[in-house]
Amino acid sequence: MTLARSAYYLTHKFTYDRKVHFTALKMDAVHLFQLLIVVIHAISSSLTVSKSTSLPLVINTWPFKKATEKAWSVINNGGSNLDAVEKGCSVCEIQRVCSDSVGYGAHPNEKGETTLDAMIMDGVSHRVGSVGNLKRVKGAISVARAVMDYTQHTMLVGNDATMFAQEMGFTITPLYTNESLKEWNDWLHNKCQPNYWQNVRPNHTESCGPYKPIQRHTVPLPSHQSISKDNHDTIGMLVIDKNGNIAGGTSTNGMNHKIPGRVGDSPIIGSGAYVDNDIGGAVGTGDGDVMMRFVPSFHTVQLMLNGLSPEKAARSALKPIIKKYPDFSGAIVAASISGEYGAACHNFGGKVQYTLQTPSLKNATIFTVKCSMSSK
Ligand SMILES: *[C@@H]1O[C@H](CO)[C@@H](O)[C@H](O)[C@H]1NC(C)=O
Ligand SMILES: *[C@@H]1O[C@H](CO)[C@@H](O)[C@H](O)[C@H]1NC(C)=O
Repeated sequence: MTLARSAYYLTHKFTYDRKVHFTALKMDAVHLFQLLIVVIHAISSSLTVSKSTSLPLVINTWPFKKATEKAWSVINNGGSNLDAVEKGCSVCEIQRVCSDSVGYGAHPNEKGETTLDAMIMDGVSHRVGSVGNLKRVKGAISVARAVMDYTQHTMLVGNDATMFAQEMGFTITPLYTNESLKEWNDWLHNKCQPNYWQNVRPNHTESCGPYKPIQRHTVPLPSHQSISKDNHDTIGMLVIDKNGNIAGGTSTNGMNHKIPGRVGDSPIIGSGAYVDNDIGGAVGTGDGDVMMRFVPSFHTVQLMLNGLSPEKAARSALKPIIKKYPDFSGAIVAASISGEYGAACHNFGGKVQYTLQTPSLKNATIFTVKCSMSSK
């Protein structure tokens, strides 16, 4: 891409140079000299642009600076873009310095267990490793990486993913903490509110389960009201190395009090993340149950292929979701393979943040994006 861009600029400038040359024959020496300076300056500045001072690039959802900094240090110390994504997201999972939505010890499901979803994707080979509803292993994105590296599969789930992780040498350990047990107990004592059931009896807004279905053909109901600040800020990260190769990844523990077995958008290819080495990548965060119905990360990358900037592509990819689910909260962060970046969001109380590091920024820097809001 960088080479193609250099070639384009050079051809463009040489054509310009030739045209200028004929005109210049009629000019005096001074003007010719000035013109040469201008042309040389134009060539050199275009080369600077095409060399892309914007790479390498690390970008991730939310103000998770520690994750950005870790990925940045990996990519600048000889690590691969995949290492950077894995190690960056691991900071959130293992050190739990990002949010309650990533890692162990938070967001217990209805049975009190924390389970993890994660994905990693390589733009060069288009390989993906992913785990859903992973139990009793803290480093979910590393297990996802192991699925990619040591199997020919793409996704492993549940207890069997745990068995795979154990075979690959991961430590098996409970994912609850005193805080997550307390959170679960409080929920039980609050009549299991909020929860994610519909069309069941007893009335799920008033009592705990077990539930039974009350009708087979359901009328569409409004989407979740229980999305709160602490319920959706999962990490999605894109890393582009200085050679213009991209990798992406996600990690989350999913929705608080989810129904056991639930897998969100984060480990779903094209929903939680998608990268294409010829175009760029995108990651999503928000109401995963709704977002995954629209495969928004894949959609964003396709819109970039059609020529939209990362920001415009992200905004356009949210449109079909907003049309069907005006109350959903979601954000997409995207980057083109040449190092442009941008984000768009809907609801979330009006704004979301992402964190970026490039050579032109001294430190990992948090950017704030204004969200479109539902009319209600
Ligand atoms: C969790 O709670 C138990 C019982 O109250 C206590 O003994 C233990 O030290 C606590 N663990 C942590 C890590 O706080
Ligand atoms: C369930 O309970 C809520 C709150 O009391 C009530 O508004 C709703 O109509 C009830 N739903 C059914 C199906 O009875």
